[in-house]
Amino acid sequence: MKSSIALIGFMGTGKTVVGKLLAQKLDRDFIEMDALIEKKAGRSIPEIFRQDGEIKFREIEIEVTKEIADRKNAVIACGGGVVLNRINIDRLRGECVIVCLAASPSVILKRTSVDKDERPLLAVSDRLDQIKELLKHRRPFYERVADITVNTSRLQPDTVVGLIIGRLREYEDYRS
Ligand code: S3P
Repeated sequence: MKSSIALIGFMGTGKTVVGKLLAQKLDRDFIEMDALIEKKAGRSIPEIFRQDGEIKFREIEIEVTKEIADRKNAVIACGGGVVLNRINIDRLRGECVIVCLAASPSVILKRTSVDKDERPLLAVSDRLDQIKELLKHRRPFYERVADITVNTSRLQPDTVVGLIIGRLREYEDYRS
């Protein structure tokens, strides 16, 4: 039985907020992948993108995923682009049930407005259009790899946590 949960999904779908609550509720360790990337690089994510570009960022993301993928009893909030490199998902799958959080473009726009400077991919003039374009490209990746998907658009974080716990039970019953 897998003992960890990897939360994937686009920026602004609630991975961090929901992940912290879920970890508390299930008494697991909470791991934030973006924070580990920043620690490893000794720089913020916008700085990594600005100084070395997205490809370098993805390389660090692959290294960090490798380091944490086998962690037991953890809830891992992944960066939104973790699905872009298949090796990441192959590694996470060993110990983690993959839970995808989804949300509509307008909700994502609203939620990411607060900390828009922290997300280099959304540092453009037409953010809604950029969100729609990125989602169009990424949706197939999220859908392909998710064991469980929850749409968080209209839900409060604690409701999402309750839904995930219920769906995890169903998933485990189904697998056992
Ligand atoms: C990214 C999402 C970000 C962060 C980086 C790239 C992406 O994480 O990893 O800015 O490609 O979607 P969050 O999804 O936690 O915002």
